[in-house]
Amino acid sequence: MATLDNTSLHLPKENLAAEDFLPLLGTDHVELYVGNAKQAAYYYMSAWGFQPLAYAGLETGLKDRVSYVVEQDKIRLVLTSPLKSGGDINRHIDKHGDGVKAIALWVDDARKSYKETVQRGAESYFEPKTLEDEKGEVVLSGIHTYGETVHVFVERSKYKGVFMPGYRAWNPHYKPSDVGLKFIDHMVGNVGWNEMNKWCQFYAHVMGFAQLVSFDDKDISTEYTALMSKVMSNGNGRIKFPINEPAEGRKKSQIEEYIEFYNGAGVQHMAMATDNIIETVSSLRDRGVEFLTVPVSYYEDVLDRVGEIDEDLAPLRDLGILIDRDDEGYLLQIFTKPILDRPTMFIEIIQRKGAKSFGKGNFKALFEAIEREQESRGTL
Ligand code: FE2
Repeated sequence: MATLDNTSLHLPKENLAAEDFLPLLGTDHVELYVGNAKQAAYYYMSAWGFQPLAYAGLETGLKDRVSYVVEQDKIRLVLTSPLKSGGDINRHIDKHGDGVKAIALWVDDARKSYKETVQRGAESYFEPKTLEDEKGEVVLSGIHTYGETVHVFVERSKYKGVFMPGYRAWNPHYKPSDVGLKFIDHMVGNVGWNEMNKWCQFYAHVMGFAQLVSFDDKDISTEYTALMSKVMSNGNGRIKFPINEPAEGRKKSQIEEYIEFYNGAGVQHMAMATDNIIETVSSLRDRGVEFLTVPVSYYEDVLDRVGEIDEDLAPLRDLGILIDRDDEGYLLQIFTKPILDRPTMFIEIIQRKGAKSFGKGNFKALFEAIEREQESRGTL
């Protein structure tokens, strides 16, 4: 997240004057509600190279839930499961399957963040509260966004512990090596028909974000499927939230498939940045992560489209890594197959070499790859 700053973002003129009433320092963590947090933690450690960080459960005084916290450089995932039947986490998992519940944002002032956003129309998730232990205090507050997803504001400047009061350090013997993931580049939401503008306006008006780019169904369509997308970014560019909605196509789009299986709007993918995508993707593949592949023909003319790149083409082709260019540079990216049983969430690996965009030039090849997968699931 240190690679982006205000001056490099080329925000639309009308947004430059906007006061940043919600300064965001970065993504604090992402909390997923999952059916089995212990095994999910093992998956993210073994397959994805996350490191064990913190734990909360029966041993720390919780009665009804358990959370494992894993981290890799600046990315922190909190994996939470219920310990008893009934309750909101069970209901969430029953409805959506495993998925992202909270995109937690790191702020200097969680009370002010709450006040500013609620005053602008955000629906409260929970009011500001202070958690304390012998390592200091953390202030949290929360608001709702699309679907049942929430944003939690995390103020941690007075905290010296491993994660948060209520958690203890988790230091197991098993610590597989990392794979070079650095930070969350962007988090994408899928919303229902005709809801993209509503949620973009939410990010603009309630959170003070500006729109970076938009794609319509002419940009993003294949023979069968179409979608529309807008990218919203906060003032310092550290937080980027593309929002997708389905568009009319001949058959069911990947967004509709997501909405059907997630039972509503939710996080479609997390994009994680690396400095060396060839090494990162090689490791991930060796550890069992499955990626979407494009036909070899993609690589026959890709350099005509994107021009010269630093990397050899052969390893990119062998791994199925995609390339795109914008005015400021190029980017390398690859997408996993859904990482859950339901065809809902996936993860993108991205390496930016100057480019600030999101891989528009790859959408067609990519969506055709997704459609081949949908075809095999009978959901196209
Ligand atoms: Fe993405």
